[in-house]
Amino acid sequence: MSHARRLLVVGNWKMHGTHASNEVLLEGLRSAGPLPCDAAVCVPFPYLAQAAERLARSPLAWGAQDCSAFEEGAYTGEVSAVMLADFGCRYVIVGHSERRALHAESDQTVADKARAALARGVTPIVCVGETLAQREAGETEVIVKRQLSAVIHTLGHCAGEMVVAYEPVWAIGTGHSASPEQAQAVHALLRSQLQAATRHAGGMRLLYGGSVKPDNAATLFAQPDIDGGLIGGAALKAADFLAICRAGVLR
Ligand code: 13P
Repeated sequence: MSHARRLLVVGNWKMHGTHASNEVLLEGLRSAGPLPCDAAVCVPFPYLAQAAERLARSPLAWGAQDCSAFEEGAYTGEVSAVMLADFGCRYVIVGHSERRALHAESDQTVADKARAALARGVTPIVCVGETLAQREAGETEVIVKRQLSAVIHTLGHCAGEMVVAYEPVWAIGTGHSASPEQAQAVHALLRSQLQAATRHAGGMRLLYGGSVKPDNAATLFAQPDIDGGLIGGAALKAADFLAICRAGVLR
């Protein structure tokens, strides 16, 4: 099977790491040599400078896990896309389910953050995904379509420039990944929604996230509409993250 899209593997470090532990992890990543996919790590804000310094001239890009919907101003504690661009960020995760749940981010807030990022040349990785209760109630399709629709409408003709990550909430940090078939079914749905809105969906990268590990990455990435992964726990060990980066080689 041939795939037009180059695989993208992104590590979401979440709220983990110290200056010292990051040195070890970044050194492990930096010394990996060429990778068969695009790869990046999204680190906590205080460590952006460290990631930028350590990953410069490496195959890995770096990014953040959130950004403000606003350009600048009286928004205490917020970090703008302007600042992320200033640190050389290529990507920013927006709408992660942990932020939607713990910080009450609405679909529209997520969309506004994606727009703010794109306006500064930082590619938003927009997360969508249903909870277990929603899946069991048969609402998966309605939920992910609603989440994506807000972003599509807000970005307008730029929607084709985002990366989308499907992360079922029940698969995050649980060790129970969606099956390749379950993930593929939702990815196909999202791609057809994107195609209807942008007509560029064939070139867009749709990542799967939720308990991706070295031993299940290859079968997930072999699915026709899965173009890489958003990796949590396994991104904290260089060897595991790099093994996942190499898992798409055979697709
Ligand atoms: P885990 O890989 O730890 O399940 O986390 C997935 C995730 O939330 C990435 O954003």
